[in-house]
This record gives sequence, C-alpha cells and structure tokens, in this order.
Amino acid sequence: SRSINLAVVPGDGIGQEVVAQGLKVLRSVLPQDVKLETKEYDLGAQRWHRTGETLPDAELESLKTHDAILLGAIGDPSVPSGVLERGLLLKLRFAFDHYVNLRPSKLFPSTATPLAGRPDIDFVVVREGTEGPYTGNGGSLRTGTAHEVATEVSVNTAYGVERVVRDAYERANARPRKKLTLVHKNNVLVYAGHLWKNIFDKVGEEYPDVTTDYLHVDAATIFFVTQPERFDVIVTDNLFGDILTDLAAAVTGGIGLAASGNINPTGRFPSMFEPVHGSAPDIAGQGKADPTATVLSVALLLRHLGYEAQAARIEEAVAADLAERDGSAPRTTDEIGDALAVRVAS
Ligand code: IPM
Ligand code: MN
Repeated sequence: SRSINLAVVPGDGIGQEVVAQGLKVLRSVLPQDVKLETKEYDLGAQRWHRTGETLPDAELESLKTHDAILLGAIGDPSVPSGVLERGLLLKLRFAFDHYVNLRPSKLFPSTATPLAGRPDIDFVVVREGTEGPYTGNGGSLRTGTAHEVATEVSVNTAYGVERVVRDAYERANARPRKKLTLVHKNNVLVYAGHLWKNIFDKVGEEYPDVTTDYLHVDAATIFFVTQPERFDVIVTDNLFGDILTDLAAAVTGGIGLAASGNINPTGRFPSMFEPVHGSAPDIAGQGKADPTATVLSVALLLRHLGYEAQAARIEEAVAADLAERDGSAPRTTDEIGDALAVRVAS
C-alpha cells in the first residue's frame, strides 16, 4: 500500500496556524489506503532562543529521510535579521539542492485584486533556488566606517543555469500555450545575463514547439501589472524570482493565496513546500491568517509525489471557496481550513 512520510516544519508566527490547516486538508483528501506519517521538527525562533541552534546536522540528516517537507514560515523580529533566513530556510534549500523554486500564479474567479475581471491569468515562475546573490558570497571592508565597501556577489554557473532552464522548458512544453519567458537584466548585468541568455537559446533548440521571449526584469514588472496574460512559464534567477513572485501574488489575489515548491527534480533529496508569505508576527496567534497559500502548497506537494487527482481536488476546492467568499464576514484560519477539508473529503 502507498504511504507518505512527511516532515513538518511549522516554524514561526502564523506558520504554526497555517500548517495545521494544511495538514487537516491533506488528511481529508488522501484516500484511505494511503498511510500518512508525519514528524514535526521544532525549528525556528523559539528553538534558537532556547538553544542557539538553527538547523543542527542531526536534524538535517533526519529531514533527508522524508518523502517531502511541509514548511510554514521562518523569521521573527526577536531574532537578528538573516540568522534564521540563512541558517535555516536557505540552508535547507541549498543542502537539499532545491534548484527549482516553483511559484504558480492563477487569477481565481472573484478574488479581490486590482486585476479582477481581466482575462485569464495563469502563469508559473520557475525561480532558480540555489545560486545568484543568495549564496552568501561577498563581504565588507572597513565595516562601520564612512568608507565601508560591501559586496554581494551573484554566482551563476553553467551547470546551475542549464538545469533550471531545462526544467522550465520541460514545464512550458507540457502546457497548452508552450511559452517560456526568460527574465534577467542583461543590459547591465552582462556576465550573468549573457550566460543565462546563451544557455536559454542553446537549450531552446531542443524544444522547437516552445515559443520563447526575453524581458528585462524592470520591464517584466510593468507587464505583470498591465498585461499578465502574456506570461505562461517564466524562468529567472533567485533574486529576480523572489521579487517578481511577491508582485505576482499581490496582483493575483494577495500573498495569502501564493503557494510554492522548492523542488529537487532528481528526487535525490526531499522537496519542500511552503507558502510564499512570511511569519506575519503582527497577526500571529489571532486566527486571522489565511491558510489558503499553505493548502495550495499541499496541492503542489501531492502533485510532486504523484497524487495528481488529489492535488486537482484541492485546487478546485480553493477556487470554489474563493468564489463564495464574503468580504464582509471574514472567517478564522481554522474555519477556512475546516471549509476546505470538507470540500476535498473523499
Ligand atoms: C521567500 C522569502 C525568502 C527568500 C527569505 C525569507 C529568505 O522571501 O521565500 O520568498 O528570499 O527566498
Ligand atoms: Mn520572498
């Protein structure tokens, strides 16, 4: 019989609340014959305050043994900026070689957005997840003086760029519109920009059915707002992808709906699924957080593990739930989770 051995990292702030709803919906959608095992990992701000640890080796090793990881949110104002981001979240993405950071955007019917009523918006950003300016390659000279010089070097390898570009072509090729847009800034960032463009063009020769396009990142932000229907699959570097996907979320229904998967397509390491939003300490513990982004991340998780029918059922349930939302009667985190769990029940 089938089974899923899931690692759960609720993390900080609203992470705890939204992950509980994600698990509720997961339990509800899975067929009886699929055995779900979960193991919760106590990682994040509280752990750091207690022990000074962010992600000890023993836990990293243990996390490796799971089929997938469900993560809530990492980060807390009581911890110096960067400690948990780098020591926990990015450490996981790098250690498990999550080179595809998959971030779909869909305009659900009737969602509140500046783009409501626009033609169908349905695109996916393939954000590189292991390189770029995120590698921590840099330093500071004469720190704290009036002559301080800080560098933050963007690392782009042919190996790293080719594998993520290839993944994006595969995804574009499998979609009806078969369109792939490279987003970079090769008019200024000439070294990395040309590496990306050359590899993009070279790999493209293997995908004659895929229509390609190139946009500078600044121009892409305009089109995200004025003409988002022009996008199908977008491939871009780690930092551009970070920024673009917050914008994509904002224009397609809000950050409360944006899901993501940190994927290692080789299956050598477990992939990790998390809402795009952060820990939102200002509303933590109040039952106000929208768990929908986490629930949609659970759908990505199921799709990754081969449970396509269950993933689709979650996405349909979310669409139906959003269509019936009454802005004047907000529901609690728990109520939204309950409603979705009932809709997906097998
Ligand atoms: C995200 C977040 C992270 C990132 C931070 C918290 C390190 O903004 O998942 O988009 O920059 O990747
Ligand atoms: Mn981000």
